[in-house]
Amino acid sequence: MIIAIDGPAASGKGTIARRLAAHFGLPHLDTGLLYRATARVLLDEGSRLDDVDKAVSAARGLALLDFDEERLRGREMGEAASVVAAIPEVRAALIDMQRVFAARPQGAVLDGRDIGTVIAPAAQVKIFVTASAETRAQRRALELRGRGERVDYASILEDIRKRDQRDSERSDAPLKPAEDAKILDTTDLNIEAAFAAALAMVDAAGPRL
Ligand code: DC
Repeated sequence: MIIAIDGPAASGKGTIARRLAAHFGLPHLDTGLLYRATARVLLDEGSRLDDVDKAVSAARGLALLDFDEERLRGREMGEAASVVAAIPEVRAALIDMQRVFAARPQGAVLDGRDIGTVIAPAAQVKIFVTASAETRAQRRALELRGRGERVDYASILEDIRKRDQRDSERSDAPLKPAEDAKILDTTDLNIEAAFAAALAMVDAAGPRL
């Protein structure tokens, strides 16, 4: 069974994906980390984020990298990832790795922006997780503060809006629900309720292979 979870930044999709993976004993890939790690290579070597050749070789070299999640999950890397993710050649360089992961015999849970539309269009379960920009900004501010970053709500809300716009308006694999995705709005749900709703959606998809 492939479970595809898509949605905008801080919608709760990562937590839901992780918990579904644990519940069903499936491997989980947070595909945002691939774009964040690509951006990190460019920033570390002092390259511009829009240098297509450098960005593609960074994306291709990722398998060799140690994913230092703490730094990858910071605010700067989320922004930078959204910029490199708009480069079609970077997306092309990362497709195979994601499709191979999705094709594991026991199945997989992947979360990102284009899993149900591009990476795994045949996924048995597709959930598009969303929430209001204000709620997402509150969650992101809490999360970043918990990580020790000093952030204010207004600038995080601005980041979220900018990122939504960049991710939704790019030409290649824009953020949008697949036609057969179920929409899960987590604005008024805590994590337990959101997970329960996601689980019900998986169960409603029918018997699991
Ligand atoms: O999910 P995230 O916040 O870690 O993702 C960071 C950025 O990476 C996001 O703004 C857009 C990009 N991304 C993407 O374009 N496609 C994916 N499948 C996952 C992330």
